[in-house]
Amino acid sequence: MKRIGLLTSGGDAPGMNAAIRVIVRKGSEIGAEILGIQRGFRGLIDGDVVPLDNRAAGGIIERGGTILRTARAASFLTLDGQKSAVATIAEQGMDGLIVIGGDGSLKGARAMHEHGVATIGIPASIDNDIPGTTMAIGVDTALNTAVDALNKIRDTAYSHERVFVVEVMGRRSGYIALMSGLAGGAEIVLIPEVKVSFDEIYALIDSGRQIGKRHSIIAVAEGFCAEGSAGRVISEFLRKKTDLEIRLTILGHLQRGGSPTAFDRILASRFGAMAIESLVEGISGKMTALTQGRIATIPLAEIEHVATNVDLALYRLVYSVAS
Ligand code: F6P
Repeated sequence: MKRIGLLTSGGDAPGMNAAIRVIVRKGSEIGAEILGIQRGFRGLIDGDVVPLDNRAAGGIIERGGTILRTARAASFLTLDGQKSAVATIAEQGMDGLIVIGGDGSLKGARAMHEHGVATIGIPASIDNDIPGTTMAIGVDTALNTAVDALNKIRDTAYSHERVFVVEVMGRRSGYIALMSGLAGGAEIVLIPEVKVSFDEIYALIDSGRQIGKRHSIIAVAEGFCAEGSAGRVISEFLRKKTDLEIRLTILGHLQRGGSPTAFDRILASRFGAMAIESLVEGISGKMTALTQGRIATIPLAEIEHVATNVDLALYRLVYSVAS
């Protein structure tokens, strides 16, 4: 295991650079050269490779995003794209590959393994929708960004006695909405995993008003409405239905940036170390995972479908303490 390719793919996640740093430094420790592949699988197909030395890994642990840049490469989903990628691996004399990314990227990692490339995946996505691991890289930082925003929104909601609809990311998962809503004291949390009608949403707001609540915060997952634009759709419904002052804030890509929290830096470092150790032991086709508080590896074949890691007991807790 003397030359290991490394790429970041899909949506960037705070903590990716912390994983890169450990992979480069652990690689150096075992006498392996780490070859950085720029812009995800597109870079692998194009042969866009730069060696990463210990100096390249300096001063990045605190930076969000990814120094290798990333991309969503649809071309990799084709057999031709995958064959070009395998050709790059051979041309570059790579003995192994580490893929850091979300569910789509990890499917790509599985394809590389199935093409005979020793490959380890590392889960990284703020959505936390990767099955088999309780946390992915970037989730904790995104949660803290969302909670900080909810705190700021609550100040002005209180002052103006308004109802704020705050839309958060998560694709089809309600994890960010649920956990930031719970931590941020939201009165209402709306997630794709639990169907709630618009009239029920209005009834929740109205019952709060009946007991004297002069302001409310609704944390809604972007995927709550199948047609998308959940925040806009809900805020427009409430404007028509009530005489309340309604405002909408869409957090968007703020949740993808920022300096990673200690939790994400430590998780990413542990995943990076496990990935190197696994390749050295001849393990392939697996993903690093956090399970029962321990770092393990699970087969990439087991992550066929996205999960949401949503705990419905916490969903019920939000409503039981929101009055
Ligand atoms: O998968 C991470 C994520 O931030 C989702 O929560 C969001 O829906 C999507 O990426 C946005 O994709 P893009 O960055 O390509 O606009």
